[in-house]
Amino acid sequence: MSATLRGTLVEIRPLTLADSHALSEILRDRRSTRFLPPRVRHEAGLQFVRRVLKEQRSGTGFSFAIVVKGENHVVGQVRLMDWSRAESRAEVGVWLKRKYWGKGFGTEAVRLACLFGFRSMRLHRVVAKVVSDNGGSAAMLRKLGFRQEGTLRREARVGRTWTDVWVYGLLRGELRGLRTV
Ligand SMILES: CC(C)(COP(=O)(O)OP(=O)(O)OC[C@H]1O[C@@H](n2cnc3c(N)ncnc32)[C@H](O)[C@@H]1OP(=O)(O)O)[C@@H](O)C(=O)NCCC(=O)NCCS
Repeated sequence: MSATLRGTLVEIRPLTLADSHALSEILRDRRSTRFLPPRVRHEAGLQFVRRVLKEQRSGTGFSFAIVVKGENHVVGQVRLMDWSRAESRAEVGVWLKRKYWGKGFGTEAVRLACLFGFRSMRLHRVVAKVVSDNGGSAAMLRKLGFRQEGTLRREARVGRTWTDVWVYGLLRGELRGLRTV
């Protein structure tokens, strides 16, 4: 399976250093990064891209740029990380430029990344972790067929508050919006 996947709204293709600038713009927007792990919140685009490409070379994940179909600009990233080959599972993470929220782009980008995970990485299970205040992200995951499996109590610090994190899981065969996986 090619590492470029096309949906009806967006396509995802392998992330490159040339995408750093577009991602920097998103990482500078505090509302976009509010629910992301501190490490990502404090990175510039170039640092982020260098780190995830290094992880990719070491075989622990795959990172994609999200590109609006028909236009050639990068509006976000989606990646499969912490890949355990032994247990055929990985975690999905996504973020988009704020101006593109609410148009279905996030749902489609995560769907394509999961499809890549199940088909090319032969995953059995994809996990997502969501800060409990992040209703948009949880809604997106449920729409894709993810189920909430548990709560990590007071796991993340959002502003000054320790906040619960919900663990969502999706098993092979559960991805919605596709005829087959
Ligand atoms: C989370 C994120 C990727 C979602 O992408 P998106 O393109 O805005 O999501 P979609 O447009 O595909 O929406 C998916 C569903 O969630 C719902 N939704 C979106 N934002 C919502 C919100 N703030 N509250 C409640 N529901 C929301 C939508 O209504 C949609 O359901 P519907 O189609 O039935 O109406 C995007 O908002 C984002 O980048 N947020 C900042 C980074 C982040 O929090 N990443 C997730 C870390 S786990």
